[in-house]
Amino acid sequence: MTTHTVTLGNRGGAIYEVNDRRPLLEQLRNHGVDLPYGCEYGGCITCAAKLTAGTVDQRRQVALNNRQIANGYVILCVARATSDITLEIGVESHDKLYRNPFLDPLKPHELKADIATPKEG
Ligand code: FES
Repeated sequence: MTTHTVTLGNRGGAIYEVNDRRPLLEQLRNHGVDLPYGCEYGGCITCAAKLTAGTVDQRRQVALNNRQIANGYVILCVARATSDITLEIGVESHDKLYRNPFLDPLKPHELKADIATPKEG
């Protein structure tokens, strides 16, 4: 098990130690950090945070499309830290999470990976 630090950029730079085994949401909540969440399986997007430095493994998430991933969003209920990271947390980090689909529709390459891939038959 490896430990990493999480710096919360929009919480005065507060720093917490986490391991690479458990989801960030669970570990930060155990440290007393107040975070929004819902489903806890990576499907509802409520727990999204913006990663501004470092890397995570969030292969289990299904909530984000490719544009949201490109904008740095990570799904804390399934993401594990794979380096020291810096996050912006809470709803104030969601400025680029939701778009008006009529004013700003997703391009094909920005769709979720499983939607963007044409299915045979
Ligand atoms: S709590 Fe639903 S995606 Fe994380």
